[in-house]
Amino acid sequence: MAWVEACALDDLDVRGMKQVVMEDGKKIAVIRMDDGVFAIDDTCSHAEASLAEGDIVGDKVKCPLHGAEFEVRTGAVKSFPAVVGVQKYETKVDDDTVFVDYGE
Ligand code: FES
Repeated sequence: MAWVEACALDDLDVRGMKQVVMEDGKKIAVIRMDDGVFAIDDTCSHAEASLAEGDIVGDKVKCPLHGAEFEVRTGAVKSFPAVVGVQKYETKVDDDTVFVDYGE
């Protein structure tokens, strides 16, 4: 894995999300919470929907299409209709830039 620059910290409101497209086309949702920045796969495990276009409800992201919920910090699925979680990625913030641990 390698640290890949994702976005500026200022691009994210607290409790805000942003879709970031990696060099290989993979879409990742970068999420800023009160206690840090987190990253999970952006594509819902149920169908083709961008989780970054959904809502943050408590400590979960709610899919905009059918309402499945995923934990921000782990990607674990918390409600139907999705039954499989999404990948989570380690993140770090360095000099106001968000990095995601991604790739080889
Ligand atoms: S596409 Fe996300 S719950 Fe159906």
